[in-house]
Amino acid sequence: MSASTLPNATLTATYESMTPGSAALAAKARGLMPSGLSHDSRHFDPYPLYVQRALGPVKWDVDNNKYVDYFGGHGALILGHNHPAVMAAVQAALENGTHFGACHELEVRWAELVTQMVPSAERVRFTSSGTEATLMAVRLARAYTGRSKLVRFRGHFHGWHDHMTSGHANHFDGTATSGVIEGVADNVLLCDPNDVEGITRIFNDHKDIAAVILEPTGGNFGKMPILPSFVSLLRDLTKQAGTILIFDEVVTGFRVSPGGVQAALGITPDMTTLAKILSGGLPGGAVVGRKDILDWLDFKVTKAAGREKVAHPGTFNANPVSAAAGIATLEILASTDACARANAFGDTVRAKMNEVLEDEGVKWAVHGTHSSMHIYTNPEGADIVPSRFDAASFIQKMIDKPRGEGITGQVRMGLLVNGVDMNSGPSGWISAMHGEEELAITVDAFRATIRALKREGMVR
Ligand SMILES: Cc1ncc(COP(=O)(O)O)c(C=O)c1O
Repeated sequence: MSASTLPNATLTATYESMTPGSAALAAKARGLMPSGLSHDSRHFDPYPLYVQRALGPVKWDVDNNKYVDYFGGHGALILGHNHPAVMAAVQAALENGTHFGACHELEVRWAELVTQMVPSAERVRFTSSGTEATLMAVRLARAYTGRSKLVRFRGHFHGWHDHMTSGHANHFDGTATSGVIEGVADNVLLCDPNDVEGITRIFNDHKDIAAVILEPTGGNFGKMPILPSFVSLLRDLTKQAGTILIFDEVVTGFRVSPGGVQAALGITPDMTTLAKILSGGLPGGAVVGRKDILDWLDFKVTKAAGREKVAHPGTFNANPVSAAAGIATLEILASTDACARANAFGDTVRAKMNEVLEDEGVKWAVHGTHSSMHIYTNPEGADIVPSRFDAASFIQKMIDKPRGEGITGQVRMGLLVNGVDMNSGPSGWISAMHGEEELAITVDAFRATIRALKREGMVR
C-alpha cells in the first residue's frame, strides 16, 4: 500500500492503515517505557514504526511494508544492513564468545586500523558509545590542561552527558537543562557556528579554556554547515591558547572519507571522538588523539610523572563482537571506494530532489554534503532557489527549530507511506549500498509527498 493507492486519505490515515502492527506494539510499549521509546529521535506521531528486519539499503516493518532506509542505524551503517563480510566476521566472533573480561587480539587489530586511517589517532581508547567518547575527551582535555572551560557550538550534537545538553536543541543561552547542575553549565561556553568575532572574543575573555569541541562539517552532520576557514581558525586559536581541539567525528568518521573530515580537510585536531561506523553497526566508540594527552590513561606514564591517572573502566569497552564488525567494516572502507560512492549518491539524490521541488514550484531545499541529505522546509518563506540553497546563511533559522513536529513530521510521514524512511530532521544518512533503484524510489516518494502535502494544504 502507498499514498498513491489511497489518493484521498490524509498521510496520517494512510500511515495508520499501513501499520497496524506498529500501532499495537507502540500501545503496549507506552505502558512499559516512557513514551514507549528507547531513543528520543524515534519519537513520531501518532506512533513510531516498528522494524522487523533489514538488508542492504532497505528494511521491512512488522507489517511487511518495505522502506528504502536512510535512518542507516543512526549513521552507523555506511555499508548498509547485514553486509556479508561484516556478518561473517560477527558470526565468527560469536563462535568464540561474547565477552572474555580480558584483552583480546581483535581489539589490537581494531586499534591498529584506527591509527592507520585517522590522522590524529596516535593512541586509541575504546568506549561503548559516542557519548562516552565525548565525555572522556573532555575529561582528558581538562586533566591535560588543568583548565575547566569547554567551548561548544550552538546546534552541534555530542551525545547526552551533562556537558553536552544545553545549546543543541534548546537552552541556547547556555543555562542548565533539566537534571543538569548549574556548575556544569557554567563551565560550558556556547558560540554561534562560523562566528569569527564571537570565538575571538571568547578566547580573549577566557584564559581557562580546556577544550573546543565541534562537529567538523557542522551541526547535525552538516545540516548547519561550518566553514572550513572557521575550522582552520579554530585550529590556530586553540594552538595559540594551549587549548585542546576535539573533532567529534562520531558521524563523519570513516564516512566523509576513510580518514574522516580531518583527512578530507587536512586539519588535524588534538583529539577525535569516534563511534557508529567505527564498530560496524554494533555498539562501540573511541577517543583517539595525541599520545601525550591519552597518556593520562596510561598506568606507567602517569606513575612516572607523579600524576593521578584518569580512570576508565567500562564493561563493554572494545567488546569482541563489536571489534569484529568494526575491523571488517574499516578494512572495506580503507580498501574500496565505498565512502566516495555514498558521497556521490548524496550529490545525485540531493540534486534530483531539488529538481522535484523546482518542478513543483516549492521553495524548500534538499541540502547537505557528502553522504547526508537534509530537507529545509523554509518556515519563514524565504525566496529560495532549491538547487542554489546556501545552508550556511540559514543556520540561525535552523538552530532552534523543533524537529519532527508540524510540517517536518508530515514530510517524514509522506516519505514513509511512499516507502522511504529517514529521521525527523528530516535528514538522511546514505550508505554505499544505495543505488539506482533506491534513487528512483526516493525521488518518486518525495514527489508524491510534496503533492500529498499540497492536497492537504500544507504546502503551496
Ligand atoms: C556527532 C555526534 N556525537 C556524539 C553522538 C553520541 O553518540 P552515541 O549515540 O553513540 O552515544 C552522536 C550520536 O548521534 C553524534 O551524532
